[in-house]
Amino acid sequence: MTDLGSRNGVPRHVAIIMDGNGRWATRRGKPRSFGHRQGVEALRRTVRAAADMGIDVLTLYSFSSENWSRPQSEVRFLLELLRRFIRTDVAELHKSNVRIMIIGGRDGLEPALRTMFEEAETLTRENTALKLVIAFNYGSRQEITRAVQIIARKVAEGKIDPADITPAVIGNHLDTGGLPDPDLLIRTGGEQRLSNYLLWQCAYTEFVFLPEYWPEFDASLLSRAIEEFQSRDRRFGGVKAQTA
Ligand code: IPE
Ligand code: IPE
Ligand code: MG
Repeated sequence: MTDLGSRNGVPRHVAIIMDGNGRWATRRGKPRSFGHRQGVEALRRTVRAAADMGIDVLTLYSFSSENWSRPQSEVRFLLELLRRFIRTDVAELHKSNVRIMIIGGRDGLEPALRTMFEEAETLTRENTALKLVIAFNYGSRQEITRAVQIIARKVAEGKIDPADITPAVIGNHLDTGGLPDPDLLIRTGGEQRLSNYLLWQCAYTEFVFLPEYWPEFDASLLSRAIEEFQSRDRRFGGVKAQTA
């Protein structure tokens, strides 16, 4: 009945809301774009650290369905950063046996970007180390809506009986179908909200909110968040074994 006995291990799936790039830059008297650029460096550090720690799935919120409402120049800059990241980093990630997956809406995206996504996914499909899931043009309500549309179509075609629709069936129709739910969700930048991220998947996820801005994130902050996760008592609606 030691504390250690009830500690969680390394989380299998870590999801991160990479927030605070703009404020980090503004504090330094720099344009928001500078923060986004440094944010990519933090992303690279985090992917390496996650792979080293033996995390199985790392899901990063890179651009939300709602982020299109930002000034056009910022949206353009973020898209260019993503394109550049894919062009420069995918080969290296592939060499490191990282599997790349992209979640979020694909309809309406520029064809060149869709092609880049598909190529990165196809190239790394068989890789068995870290699964790096990039949430781009991602919104959880939109994702759930798409899943409902697919299921409704199958019902209309007589392929699914409504009585057979279970939470597992719904989960498998989401963009994250086949992936385990996040064990740990980290949000940097001080806000304590989900901003339309993984609403279904986070039913029993542990949340860690950090005041640090995303460009400051590194292996030691990741370790700290994981230590916090490991000290949590995950009950999943049940009771602790030793007090049952
Ligand atoms: C996160 O940083 C990056 C994206 C949302 C694309 P922000 O750009 O949201 O930075 P803040 O929250 O305004 O500081
Ligand atoms: C969430 O951050 C989206 C990403 C980190 C990509 P936002 O900055 O868009 O969230 P809000 O607007 O503060 O809720
Ligand atoms: Mg923000």
